[in-house]
Amino acid sequence: MNERKIRMKDGGEMPALGQGTWHMGDHKDREEQEIESIRLGVSLGMTLLDTAEMYGEGASERMLGKAIAPLKRDELFLVSKVYPWNAGRANLFESCENSLRRLGTDYLDLYLLHWPGSVPLAETVDCMEQLVREGKILRWGVSNFDTDDMERLWSVPDGDKCAVNQVLYHLGSRGVEYDLLPWLQRHEVAMMAYCPIAQGGALRRQLLKDKVLGGIAAAHGVTVIQLLLAFALRRESVAAIPKAGTPRHTRENAEAAEIRLSDEEWKRIEAEFPSPAHKMPLDIR
Ligand SMILES: NC(=O)c1ccc[n+]([C@@H]2O[C@H](COP(=O)([O-])OP(=O)(O)OC[C@H]3O[C@@H](n4cnc5c(N)ncnc54)[C@H](OP(=O)(O)O)[C@@H]3O)[C@@H](O)[C@H]2O)c1
Repeated sequence: MNERKIRMKDGGEMPALGQGTWHMGDHKDREEQEIESIRLGVSLGMTLLDTAEMYGEGASERMLGKAIAPLKRDELFLVSKVYPWNAGRANLFESCENSLRRLGTDYLDLYLLHWPGSVPLAETVDCMEQLVREGKILRWGVSNFDTDDMERLWSVPDGDKCAVNQVLYHLGSRGVEYDLLPWLQRHEVAMMAYCPIAQGGALRRQLLKDKVLGGIAAAHGVTVIQLLLAFALRRESVAAIPKAGTPRHTRENAEAAEIRLSDEEWKRIEAEFPSPAHKMPLDIR
């Protein structure tokens, strides 16, 4: 049972290990299994549930709404995101209401601006703060914001109330460690790692066939994917939201929070996939 929490600047706590939902809800024939996976994850302590109005244009939020319907709302940490073009006074309140309705809840624990857009940040922040006052959201944050975006956010009124920045982060993509993560830590903004297990494609293949990772995973009786998740969860102020559409994967992900490597093993992993020594543009998916 994973119970590690991350303290946020408003004094609230966020579970360190959660569940992503992108592409869940897209196929009716998979819904039952997806709902089962989400509920299993919650029972194993993965109570942070991440979704967005973008995912399946509401389908992911609807699936999640069904999954959480029998669960205790106050034991969950629900996160959704607003499209950048909806993040102004004209649309943000309606977007939030729609997300709440699809999820079958009356508040979000965290509402994120999905990526930087053209609506002035001051207007987005003003609306987010209004949603907090109205009790529709407990706090707000951003996603896909690089260090210069965070600086811009800090220059608008109440911009420094941002609680979380959700960004792509995994062992094969460590660019944020150079400047963004230290910036967030200095300003008490928690980081939420998306794609923490490197989703599909060539990069994952490269990580999966790496001999150092394979050897360390085998020595601990875990998979390389679980090792990737343990890496993303290694830092105190970083949460991770792997997406798993099957109960087997969900269980493996929950177990990854228990992996403990020696300093020597971490050093070998660090040597194989080093943190960059210079600024890298923010990776996005
Ligand atoms: N803010 C943003 O812009 C942004 C962008 C991308 C993602 N996100 C959020 O972050 C979440 C996670 O990112 P992601 O879904 O792109 O990638 P991810 O979590 O890194 O990888 C998901 C993939 O890994 C597989 N998987 C899960 N657990 C596994 C295990 N134990 N062993 C082997 N394979 C496993 C899943 O397959 P199965 O489904 O078959 O289990 C799926 O194909 C998303 O779902 C979404 O909520 C946010």
